[in-house]
Amino acid sequence: MKGIVLAGGSGTRLGPLTRSMSKQIMPVFDKPMIYYPLSVLMLAGIREIAVITTPRDQAVFQGLLGDSSQFGISLTYVVQDHPRGISDAFNLCATFIGDAPVTLILGDNLYYGHGLSQILQTSIVPAISGATIFSYHVHDARRYGVVSVDADGRATEIEEKPEKPKSSLAVTGLYVYDNSVVDRVRALKPSARGELEITDLNRTYLDEGKLHVTPLGRGIAWLDTGTPEALLEASEFVRSLQ
Ligand code: DAU
Repeated sequence: MKGIVLAGGSGTRLGPLTRSMSKQIMPVFDKPMIYYPLSVLMLAGIREIAVITTPRDQAVFQGLLGDSSQFGISLTYVVQDHPRGISDAFNLCATFIGDAPVTLILGDNLYYGHGLSQILQTSIVPAISGATIFSYHVHDARRYGVVSVDADGRATEIEEKPEKPKSSLAVTGLYVYDNSVVDRVRALKPSARGELEITDLNRTYLDEGKLHVTPLGRGIAWLDTGTPEALLEASEFVRSLQ
């Protein structure tokens, strides 16, 4: 299993902080944001990880993380020259992925809680056929990808930031795919906002009955860091836990 941390993008909602600095390098309490998603991949037992950044920020991440051999992992740095969408990660990393399955995590997503490593290891390691996403109950689902499930927990529908969400289950920024993901992304068309949408990619698996949904329950906190308020709340959350 290969891993990817997507840490590019423009971070406009955090301006002016992000005008000269990557969002994913900003502090969440006492650590740079990217430590959190990186540690999720490590908890899942993934050792070969690509870090995607903007051209501007690559040297900063290399200075921070080096080759990370001291943590027993191997890091590869990849540049995204323009924010073409989350699914673009698989175009950029096609050679790195090779013929392996792959787990993608967004560089601004924080997962915290008891039992996380158990969930990751049972959901990620065996998932070699199809795709697995991780859902989380939220109050304002319009801000996220939203998945609907049937009584058996099987995905029935997935939408990106719907005006009228059909469920309260947000799709969090952690995605596990079999190796067909690389070919699927090559066939994707950009959305109306010009991005290769992760939700469109997930829908290709849903249409074939291959999209698995793992619910993250009460024991796990999933935190957003996209706005100044959310970033501050994430820092306060980590501080009180530590
Ligand atoms: O956080 C979970 C949500 O992430 C999901 O529920 C949504 O389905 C998914 O589309 C995404 O929504 P966001 O509005 O949060 O996506 P955003 O454009 O903010 O990008 C998420 C992260 O990925 C952010 O840290 C920047 C990075 N990124 C994004 C794009 C579009 C890149 O590195 N390159 C890109 O091209």
